[in-house]
Amino acid sequence: MKSPWDIRYANQEALYGKAPNAFFSHILPLYPCGTILLPCDGEGRNAIHAAKKGWDVHAFDGSQVGINTAQRWAAEANVAIQCEVSDAFDFAPKEQFDLVGLFYAHMPSERRRAFHHLAIQWLKPGGTLILEGFHTDQLHYQSGGPRNESMLFTPEMLAEDFKELLATQNEVVQVTLDEGPLHQGLASIVRYIGTK
Ligand SMILES: C[S@@+](CC[C@H](N)C(=O)[O-])C[C@H]1O[C@@H](n2cnc3c(N)ncnc32)[C@H](O)[C@@H]1O
Repeated sequence: MKSPWDIRYANQEALYGKAPNAFFSHILPLYPCGTILLPCDGEGRNAIHAAKKGWDVHAFDGSQVGINTAQRWAAEANVAIQCEVSDAFDFAPKEQFDLVGLFYAHMPSERRRAFHHLAIQWLKPGGTLILEGFHTDQLHYQSGGPRNESMLFTPEMLAEDFKELLATQNEVVQVTLDEGPLHQGLASIVRYIGTK
């Protein structure tokens, strides 16, 4: 059976645009190229960007349609990414990664903490986690994201979920998103960086 994400991605391509997330493209050059994991990467916009910059890229998403698009876009860009269809809770990598990037990977509240703990396990010691997602204030905006407050983030929640990491950034910012049809306009987001 197709997932709701399969249906969304099949109805319209580039739901979050083809360009990488702005925070990701700004932060990535600050780290030496290595291995990166992009969980819940959708149509692969961030994976393809990292591959173009020389990273050894692994990505997964629960949507077969999203991964099909990511593979096609990677071929068109002439870059290699290792991506697979997997639920986050079934993903069992054989290695840990220098960087893990979580972009708008919102889970139901009862699964969020376990998902974030998995992300810590996917990191090498010394590795860095980068996250961007919607803050709970996003319910006041119409620029995208879950309409369910329990799926949204606060810096306090992320500090608790990622307390094993040394956080160097954990802040709420207002930005104007321009990421495809589903992320458009003024938004309240949280940006987090932490090292294991
Ligand atoms: C809002 S989209 C963001 C996609 C991508 N990170 C981006 O920024 O372009 C959320 C993605 O998370 C994926 N997803 C949600 N829950 C998942 C789960 N439990 N396991 C794997 N993927 C999941 C969806 O299929 C969807 O592609």
